[in-house]
Amino acid sequence: MSEQTYPSVKDLTVEEKASLTSGGDAWHLQGVESKGIPGYMITDGPHGLRKSLASSTGETDLDDSVPATCFPPAAGLSSSWNPELIHQVGEAMAEECVQEKVAVILGPGVNIKRNPLGGRCFEYWSEDPYLAGHEAVGIVAGVQSKGVGTSLKHFAANNQETDRLRVDARISQRALREIYFPAFEHIVKTAQPWTIMCSYNRINGVHSAQNHWLLTDVLRDEWGFEGIVMSDWGADHDRVASLNAGLNLEMPPSYTDDQVVYAARDGRIAPAQLDRMAQGMIDLTNKARAAMSIDGYRFDVDAHDEVAHQAAVESMVLLKNDESILPLDPNAHEKIAVIGEFARTPRYQGGGSSHITPTKMTSFLDTLAERGVEASFAPGFTLDLEPADPALEAEAIEAAKTADKVLMFLGLPEAAESEGFDRENLDMPAKQIELLRKVADVNPNVAVVLSNGSVVSVHPWAKYAKGILESWLLGQAGGPALADVIFGKVSPSGKLAQSIPLDINDDPSMLNWPGEEGHVDYGEGVFVGYRYYDTYNKAVDYPFGYGLSYATFEVSNVSAAKTGANTASVTATVTNTSAVDAAETVQIYVAPGKADVARPVHELKGFEKVFLKAGESKTVTVDLGERAFAYWSEKFNDWHVEAGEYDIEVGVSSRDIAATVSVELDGDGKTQPLTEWSTFGEWSADPVGSKIVDDLVAAGERGELPKLTDNAMMRMFLNSMPINSLPTLMGEAGKDVTKFLLDGYAELNK
Ligand code: BGC
Repeated sequence: MSEQTYPSVKDLTVEEKASLTSGGDAWHLQGVESKGIPGYMITDGPHGLRKSLASSTGETDLDDSVPATCFPPAAGLSSSWNPELIHQVGEAMAEECVQEKVAVILGPGVNIKRNPLGGRCFEYWSEDPYLAGHEAVGIVAGVQSKGVGTSLKHFAANNQETDRLRVDARISQRALREIYFPAFEHIVKTAQPWTIMCSYNRINGVHSAQNHWLLTDVLRDEWGFEGIVMSDWGADHDRVASLNAGLNLEMPPSYTDDQVVYAARDGRIAPAQLDRMAQGMIDLTNKARAAMSIDGYRFDVDAHDEVAHQAAVESMVLLKNDESILPLDPNAHEKIAVIGEFARTPRYQGGGSSHITPTKMTSFLDTLAERGVEASFAPGFTLDLEPADPALEAEAIEAAKTADKVLMFLGLPEAAESEGFDRENLDMPAKQIELLRKVADVNPNVAVVLSNGSVVSVHPWAKYAKGILESWLLGQAGGPALADVIFGKVSPSGKLAQSIPLDINDDPSMLNWPGEEGHVDYGEGVFVGYRYYDTYNKAVDYPFGYGLSYATFEVSNVSAAKTGANTASVTATVTNTSAVDAAETVQIYVAPGKADVARPVHELKGFEKVFLKAGESKTVTVDLGERAFAYWSEKFNDWHVEAGEYDIEVGVSSRDIAATVSVELDGDGKTQPLTEWSTFGEWSADPVGSKIVDDLVAAGERGELPKLTDNAMMRMFLNSMPINSLPTLMGEAGKDVTKFLLDGYAELNK
C-alpha cells in the first residue's frame, strides 16, 4: 500500500467490502482499520458546518454543535444571483471542515420550491432549476476546491415535508427532466460533487434509495456521475435492493452488513456490483485524504464572518420603496424608531438538520450601537405564538409617534417553518400585522424589514408600509448587512428566486398539495412558479427575478446571433443611469413560441450580475446552448429542439423585459418513423411523408386515387386521423389511400 492511496477493493474480503457500504456511526464512514482505511466524518450542511458534539451517538440535539460561521441559508443566498460570491461561501465552509476534520459537508440542497408552503424552502434555492443549478454549483465547486467533499441533496423530488419518508411523488418524465432534475444534472456535469444524497420519498412508486433508473441509468450512465450516493438519514430500507440500484452508502448504519454479505454469497448482489459500490467508498476516502491529514489548521473567524456579511448584503431584495423611504440618511438628524423583536433577536437560519451554532451574532441593534447610530427601540411583540401584548404594543406606538422614520422588523418566528413539516398558509403572524397597522396610523413613514425563510404574503399589509425590504434569513452577519443597505452604504441588489403570489391558492400545485393516501401527483407538470403565472397571465404580487435598487439602470443594444444550428449568443449593454454605485442582474429568457407540446411562455436560460459605478456601462454576452431551446420529449424519450423561430427576452425580472430579439433555429431533425397509426397531419408534416402526400395529391388529380377534400372542416378531420382510420371518412377508397402512403414510405425507406 502506498502512502498516497488506500487499497483497491480487490484487497478486501467480502465482509470488509460490505462494511464500507454503511456508516460507522451517525456521522462517520466505516473504515477498515486493518487495511488502513479511515472512517472520516461527514456532517451537515448546508449553509455552514453543523458538527454535532454528541456526534457518534446519532441522537439529535440540533443546538449542540461546534461553533461555525452561519452563512445565509439558500433562501437568502439564492437572491444574490451571484455564483462567484456563492463560491467564496463554499471555500470558507470547506476551511471550517478542514479545521474540524470533516471530509464531506452535507449540502447543498437543490430541490425545487414547487410550492412556497414547503417546509424546507428556506434551505432550497429556487422555483427555477436553471437558477438553482447555476447558483448552488458555487457551493460545490467552492467547497471541493479545498479538498473537502459535498453532498448534493436530496436526489430527487423532496419538494414537501408532509409524509416525506414515504410519499410517492408521481411526476411525468418531462417534469422530472425539465424541472426536478436540471439543477442536479448541471452540478454533476460541471462540478462532480463527491457525493449525492438520495431523497426519502418514492418517485413513481420506487423509493429513491432503491431506484436503479434514478441512481444508475440517469445519474451515472447518462450524466457521468463519478462519486458515491449515500442515503438520506434513514432512507435505506433494503440494503440489498439499494446496493443493486446504485446506492453506495447507508446512513446512519442499521447494523445490517451481514445481510449484504449473505446476498453477495448467494448471488443476490453480483460481485462486480458490490465491488463497484465499495470501490466508490475507497475512492471517496482517497479524495479526502490530503485535507483530512492537515493537523492544527485554524480558519480565520473574522474573515469568514466578513464573507457571511457580504453574502447577507447581496441576499436582500428591496420589494417596495415609495418616495425613496430607503435608504435612511444617517446624517439627516432624523429620529429613527426601530420596532420589532427581530431587530434585537434576529431570525437568521431555519430549523432542522441545518441548525448551526454561529461563531458570532450581531443583531441590527448591536450594529447601530457599534456604528453610533441613534435610534429608539421597542420590541412590539414576542417571538412566540402567543397573542399580542398590549403593553408592548403601546410602547411601540409611542416610539413611532415621536419618530421621523420607523423601521419595523417583522417576520416568521422560528416555530413557523422548519424541516419536518410544511406550512399551512403564507400569512404573517396576525399580531405583527395589527401592530404595523397601528404604527402606520400614527406615522406614515414606515419601512418594513422582513425575516422569513420562505415566501410570506405581502399584499394584505403592504399598504401600511412605504418600503419593504425582504431580508430572508441572513445568517450570523445580518445586522451589519442590514445596516449597510438600510443606511445606503450599499444598494440592495437581490432579485427574487421565487414568485411572491397574491394568494397561495393561485399556486398551480395547490390542486395537488400535499397529496393524499400516500401519493402526490405533480399535476401542474412543468408549469411551476413563474412558468405558470407568466404563461397564463396570472397576477402575482412580485414576479420571479424582481428586485429594486437605489440606482436606476437601462438595458440597451440587445442583439442575438446564431452560433450553430441550434445555439445562439445574446449581447446587451447595461448602464447605471443614476448617481449611485449598484449592481443589476440581466436575465435571459427563451420564449419558444408555438411548439408541439405545451411549453411555458418563457424560461430563464442565462443571467449575469453586473456591478456598475454611477454612470458606468458594461456589455454582457450570454451563450445559449442547445439545451436552452429544448424540451424533454416523451415521444423521443430525449431532448428535442424543434425547428423555427425562438424569441430571446432580455430583462430585469420575468415581467420586466427590456427587449426581445429572435433567432431562427434549424431544429435537431429528430423524427419518428411513420406508421399506420400516424395521423394524416403527421404524414403531411414529416419531411419524407410529405413527399408521398404530394404524390397522393397528384394521383388524385389524375383520377387514379380519391381526391382529398377541399372542405376546411373535413380537412381538419382528415389531419387528425390515424391513416388506418381513413375509410371512416372516405369509404372503401380510404383503404387505397392508406396503402399508397404505407407502400410509398416503405419504398423510400428501403
Ligand atoms: C435531512 C438531511 C440531513 C440529514 C443528516 C436528514 O433528516 O433530510 O438533509 O443531511 O438528516 O442530518
